[in-house]
Amino acid sequence: MRPLTMALCASLFAFSTAPAYADEADFEGIWLFDDAPSYPGVTMMEVTEKKGEMEGTVTSEWYGPMEMQDIAVEGDRMSFTMRNLNDKEHPTRIWHAERTPQGVHLTGTVWHTEHEEDGYRGTKAQAEKRRFKLTTLPQAKPLPFDGRSMTPPMGWSSWNKFAEDIDDATVRAMADALVETGLRDAGYIYVNIDDGWQGERAADGSIQPNDKFPDMKALADYVHARGLKLGLYSSQGPKTCAGYEGSYGHVEQDAETFAEWGIDYLKYDLCSGEWFYDTRDTVLRSYYEMGKAIRETGRPMLYSICEYGRFDVGNWGRQVGGHLWRTTGDIVDEWPVMEDIGFNRNPKKPEYSGPGGWNDPDMLEIGNGGMSHEEYQTHMTLWAMSAAPLILGHDLRETSDDALALLTNREVIAIDQDARGEQGVPLRKDSQQEVWTKPLSDGSTAVALFNRGTAAARMAVRPEDIEAETIQGARNLWTHSDLTGKDLSFTVPAHGSVMLRVW
Ligand code: GLA
Repeated sequence: MRPLTMALCASLFAFSTAPAYADEADFEGIWLFDDAPSYPGVTMMEVTEKKGEMEGTVTSEWYGPMEMQDIAVEGDRMSFTMRNLNDKEHPTRIWHAERTPQGVHLTGTVWHTEHEEDGYRGTKAQAEKRRFKLTTLPQAKPLPFDGRSMTPPMGWSSWNKFAEDIDDATVRAMADALVETGLRDAGYIYVNIDDGWQGERAADGSIQPNDKFPDMKALADYVHARGLKLGLYSSQGPKTCAGYEGSYGHVEQDAETFAEWGIDYLKYDLCSGEWFYDTRDTVLRSYYEMGKAIRETGRPMLYSICEYGRFDVGNWGRQVGGHLWRTTGDIVDEWPVMEDIGFNRNPKKPEYSGPGGWNDPDMLEIGNGGMSHEEYQTHMTLWAMSAAPLILGHDLRETSDDALALLTNREVIAIDQDARGEQGVPLRKDSQQEVWTKPLSDGSTAVALFNRGTAAARMAVRPEDIEAETIQGARNLWTHSDLTGKDLSFTVPAHGSVMLRVW
């Protein structure tokens, strides 16, 4: 062949539209993914054709089998839609699979995370190993009240300060610090390990702590020996919010393990379970499943429901064994978030709170440094007025005198812990100023003056605030002083608060 003809042939070959690999338009079958990004952790795609219609699932570690809808193939590209999460603008997302010489290239988005990875053809035997085992939920029957949590729980949790950076030594140090600072004696007795303690499951399916927690039982003994109680965290989904092993498919087994370790408190966080349980009925039953499992262990445990206030949780939290239930998304150590949770979101259904079950506006940020003294005092005042669980969220070894004074004020804690258990509510609002009241078991009323504005404001308590003709007496709980005389007016600093007990 002459050089020119050779060159022509080569270029024709390069631009040929003939398939580069035999079955380029064929998407049917099993596709395996080994290096998937951890969220949502795609492991497999299965596509079949039935009566001319294509159907299939993308299996992921977070959400199990995710159904592929509206599958369409054009050339070497398949497109389909999948349900999406927590994104009202995009309730579904379009995904693509493109054939490559090695197999398939998959792209798509779940929630706000873009996903991209390469897969290869697999066998039925391989698919069987990766197939997600779906479980069914029990029907819920209201669990009888167990008489616990007659006042809002108090303690400490690892999440706000340490997030996943938590280990046995730090938890022990927190237990010691609760004792040394006097916080334990002020009532903070739960030491709660949040997300990040979990390891893999053993061959028998039992959950193991990761190597930062060498011996959970010994840790529980250590905490108990100091007059404290130990809390732990899990999810009804296959993955917790930080991507650790959840309780899906192992609910009873995990409850038994927690009881054997000596756990006294479980926070159960919806997380990846939201893909499986997205109606009132299924979310309720998923909490019931664990609530019942806890009861059946025979070990007393407080049960903290964390599903961000969905499906009117306060209406059914007690029925599933819950002692507290989050009413909102996560708190952040910043005034706008704390303010929004405390003033706007948590007060919506005060009637659900009371002895045995509490609206939970999330854990405290006092001591973490993101807010001013006045703002932290407002945080504490607001939580105490709301009969909120008081779960500390800072490094207790670094508790400043100021934070300690805010957190251990016995008179303020007594409002939170009052036996009547009523959640205080805003009585009057005037632009940026709010007057809240909380009736107390001794017939007196806790009154808080909140100034949400950015300039100091004059605020006063009136007799009608406590449904009385005259105010007979009052005590300022932050300054520990009895107030005499009729004038109960104060200059409340910007973002500040005054807290009184009034009769
Ligand atoms: C969710 C919860 C938080 C915390 C994290 C842990 O975001 O709302 O309180 O438990 O999960 O991953």
